[in-house]
Amino acid sequence: MHLTRDEEAVLDGKEGNAAAKSMRILVALGEIYGAEKLIPVSSVQIAGVSYDNLGDPGLEYLAELAKDGRVKVTTTLNPAGMDLQEWRKLGISDDFAVKQMKVIDAFSKMGVITCCTCTPYLIGNLPRYGEHIAWSESSAVTFINSVVGARTNREGGPSAIAAAMVGKTPAYGLHLDEGRRPDVTFDVQAKVRTLPDFGALGYFIGSNAKGRIPYITGVGEATVDQLKSFSGSVVTYGSQSLFHMKGITPEAANYKPPKETVKVTQKDLEASYKALNDETGPIEFVSLGCPHCSIAEIAEIAGFLKGRKVKDGVELWVATARPTKQLSDMRGYTGIIEKAGGKFACDTCMVVAPLKGRFKNVATTSAKACFYCRGKNKMLVKLGSFEDCLREAVA
Ligand code: F3S
Repeated sequence: MHLTRDEEAVLDGKEGNAAAKSMRILVALGEIYGAEKLIPVSSVQIAGVSYDNLGDPGLEYLAELAKDGRVKVTTTLNPAGMDLQEWRKLGISDDFAVKQMKVIDAFSKMGVITCCTCTPYLIGNLPRYGEHIAWSESSAVTFINSVVGARTNREGGPSAIAAAMVGKTPAYGLHLDEGRRPDVTFDVQAKVRTLPDFGALGYFIGSNAKGRIPYITGVGEATVDQLKSFSGSVVTYGSQSLFHMKGITPEAANYKPPKETVKVTQKDLEASYKALNDETGPIEFVSLGCPHCSIAEIAEIAGFLKGRKVKDGVELWVATARPTKQLSDMRGYTGIIEKAGGKFACDTCMVVAPLKGRFKNVATTSAKACFYCRGKNKMLVKLGSFEDCLREAVA
């Protein structure tokens, strides 16, 4: 890979140890994937923030980098293992909180904006069409590549930090025109209307795309929230972190539908719902906001909960970014949700929080959450709309 003189100097330590280490990571990645050069990125989003996933080795790695490493571009974080202000309310131990705050302090020292969300595009980390960025979180990467048309590979935690410290990333994969061509058409003949319908569609397309880029026809309309949910689902179940949706995503018009075509029938959607749902017992945990709730979704939750009460023995979480919760405070939604007995889970979510063993049966609107709640947290899952899930929560 060709490096400029300035890049060579960073590699030789001109900007300190952390920058040199970061440059070594980027060069190694570039060589593995056959990149010819590094390209500037305008923003970074870093995953691998929860102490539950990092453990002490991850914390030590970050503390070492923070000694002299500083980010060069706008950089935000994926959800952490707890609400950074009100962890006790969510039943997180003080021991865990101490470690989690050390992780956050290390990122803060590096100059990272320590806003922890998987929807950075809803809180001000929003690139334009065609802009090169280096993001990590799979749903966010898929949304931003597909719905906005910005360009990022799905970075690992260390490669995202490296891109933030150097301000560049190797030019390969989804940064290049040839890496963004669709491979297989999905002709959607099923009716896809609700949020969980989009999750189930993502399950079907992801499972059948098998690592390729889908070109999707037949979806007449989709809201940002539905596309947010679809992005989380399609990549979790196996597609590349990019899809094109005819009439909806900006790059779809650049391509003809690939010849290989898979039809998506109503039966396929029903089978997907079946595959995503377990035989649950009584629901003890209702977790909304995967990916993190938008203000419109919080308004819907508050609208349902007004005048109702969460029943004893059920925990209801509304996971969102802290700035979105501030909008909710302004509109009075927070008061309604908390009065009903719901809890805001800012900066975190049910997948990255240390919840293993605490709940057995969970209701969620998210097909992505079904995958991780089952796999990581050993829960049984029920997928439904906001209303379906909230009906499980209230007396
Ligand atoms: Fe976000 Fe957690 Fe879901 S990081 S996409 S809410 S699993």
